[in-house]
Amino acid sequence: MKFFIDTANLDQIKEAQSLGILDGVTTNPSLMAKEGVTGQKNIIDHYLKICDIVDGDVSAEVISVDYKGIVKEGEELASLHKQIVIKVPMIEEGVKAIRYFNDKGLKTNCTLVFSSGQALLAAKAGATYVSPFIGRLDDISTDGLELIGDIRDIYDNYAYETEILAASIRHTMHIIDCAKIGADVVTSPLSAIKGLLNHPLTDLGLEKFLNDHKKGN
Ligand code: G3P
Repeated sequence: MKFFIDTANLDQIKEAQSLGILDGVTTNPSLMAKEGVTGQKNIIDHYLKICDIVDGDVSAEVISVDYKGIVKEGEELASLHKQIVIKVPMIEEGVKAIRYFNDKGLKTNCTLVFSSGQALLAAKAGATYVSPFIGRLDDISTDGLELIGDIRDIYDNYAYETEILAASIRHTMHIIDCAKIGADVVTSPLSAIKGLLNHPLTDLGLEKFLNDHKKGN
């Protein structure tokens, strides 16, 4: 399973990269705004800084919602750096644009996916990644993980190459459950990734090993 970090915070991206487990980054307009990155030039500079830190795919989201606008914006984003993946919303105009980008050999991440029907359309259009938002489904008392399982079944039935990128991850168990179900990628906050490190028996065991070592010396 690939690990992406879901942030535009450069320090957190550097920290995840230094762990040696990072495969890519996802951003969205809200995450950029959270870091105070506004204005087209600053946003572009920020994408380039992220691409300098990581080796893998970096999702950059379009703001346009019409086909022509999405295509123009997406091509501009893709021309910035070879690691840029064009993040396109799951809307009718977005599906058309994903088909266009796929035909041009450009990578896409179909975002704001909340149903298996939407995921099926994204795969048919040739999306590189599909991003089901599991946390936001959980927030409205709907089983986000069940959606990941349904999409896995559908994609496996037809050997679709679109990768399931589980997004809107809220905690460490989401990552583990996505891995059990067979998501291809999870994109999560650094805190959820680092949560995978923890076990009290590891801490207790290490403390005992170090104390015993001291006694023996
Ligand atoms: O990047 C998209 C997605 O991961 C957003 O997550 O926490 O805003 O629902 P969240």
